[in-house]
Amino acid sequence: MEKGVRIADLFKNEHEYVDKRALVQGWVRTKRDSKAGISFIELNDGSSLKNLQVIAELDSPDYGELLEKITTGSAVLAEGTVSVSPGRGQSVELKAERIHLYGWADPEVYPLQKKRHSFEYLRQIAHLRPRTNTIGAAARVRNRLSYAIHQFFQELGFHYIHTPIITASDCEGAGEIFRVTTLDPAHNIPVEGEDPYRNDFFARPAFLTVSGQLQAEIYALALGKVYTFGPTFRAENSNTSRHLAEFWMVEPEMAFYDLEDDLDLAQAFIKKLVGVVLNDCGEELEFFARFVEPELMGRLKTVAESAFEVISYTEAVSILTKSKEQFTFPVEWGLDLQAEHERYLTEKVFKKPVGIVNFPRVLKPFYMRVNDDEKTVAAMDILVPGTGEIIGGSQREERLEMLLEQMRIKGISANDYKWYIELREFGSVPHSGFGLGLERLVQFVTGIPNIREVIPFPRTPGHAEF
Ligand code: 4AD
Ligand code: MG
Repeated sequence: MEKGVRIADLFKNEHEYVDKRALVQGWVRTKRDSKAGISFIELNDGSSLKNLQVIAELDSPDYGELLEKITTGSAVLAEGTVSVSPGRGQSVELKAERIHLYGWADPEVYPLQKKRHSFEYLRQIAHLRPRTNTIGAAARVRNRLSYAIHQFFQELGFHYIHTPIITASDCEGAGEIFRVTTLDPAHNIPVEGEDPYRNDFFARPAFLTVSGQLQAEIYALALGKVYTFGPTFRAENSNTSRHLAEFWMVEPEMAFYDLEDDLDLAQAFIKKLVGVVLNDCGEELEFFARFVEPELMGRLKTVAESAFEVISYTEAVSILTKSKEQFTFPVEWGLDLQAEHERYLTEKVFKKPVGIVNFPRVLKPFYMRVNDDEKTVAAMDILVPGTGEIIGGSQREERLEMLLEQMRIKGISANDYKWYIELREFGSVPHSGFGLGLERLVQFVTGIPNIREVIPFPRTPGHAEF
């Protein structure tokens, strides 16, 4: 099969290509025929936002007929000479000497025509939407961030651990778990006195993981610094612009780290990721700043340059209760902070990322380290403008007695978590970690308002197409 040059590379090194032959392969965004019998094809191959203009003569004996068939959405090859473009809007163009049509797209029915489609409409055609500017650019930014996540941790000596997708534990204790079973509920009426799982695949209840943290802790207490990065699942029935039932989370876990170390790492991590995008995804960011979120560049530069604000939960509640803002949800010590509160703090009060630490013990999962006041735990949430909570983490309870007490209070069976308890019996050390939601991060750096646009195939209540 013939392989061409990526259009992104062609534009990047244009002077090397001028007056030389090049072959490109991609999908036609638009085609316009001039009265003089010349076709102008805007070709995009997904390597960048930029289309390459391909110029071809309609009456050429080699492909005159073929050219007439080329429509928006068609997949084509074009080969010819690269030349400096006299037209506005592009620096170089391709004077085609050969064109091949791989696959035609019927203009009567091809759903992506040259106009702006709504995000809601594009979700229904998630098999075609990566061919649009916005979704394509979001996919490239997501790719760059995923790579940067590995780079960041690998350069610091972290080990990448693959924690299980199928698990028996509910790490966050919120009960928002998807059950994994091979039993057909219609044909399995439980019989009294018999174990309902005896015929099930794992012969016990099993679930899709909500977090790889507990297993990452196991490896942190052996390898020192580790991270897990994979899909996580939550059966949260929340139809919001920042919740998915399936999302990707990166979770570092570090032995010999306290909450302050954890915060420092999280801050360095976010700054690094934002820096990488500013550096390597300039074209995409410009596009998002122009068409999606006008404040984007200012926001990203603030994050890259300024130190995060760190306040306690108690201070946060005090700021919120003193504010004149009308909130939908009540603010009171002991109640969870809602998205509106988080965004008020990071967007209106501090105008930069905010770390909130030391939350009430009752609000947080069993594994968080109890503070000396015994009312709060060593938790941290990091909030960013536009998105709200992007990171949740904590120092973990490393003291056996205190862990057992936490489990008792939260009604967690010590029997089910024997292995987790043993980590506190055999060589326990202070350790900490956090989880960053990849989609929330992509939302933050692109300004895309709805989380459904930053993952290829969003899963939300009632939606699992494709
Ligand atoms: O705050 P969370 O629930 O923390 C944990 O799961 C910890 N076990 C992490 C750890 O300490 N290792 O989730 C972490 C992050 C959130 O801050 C948010 O960015 C993202 O995961 N997140 C979601 N993203 C999309 N859809 C959802 N339903 C999400 N729930 C959490
Ligand atoms: Mg959280």
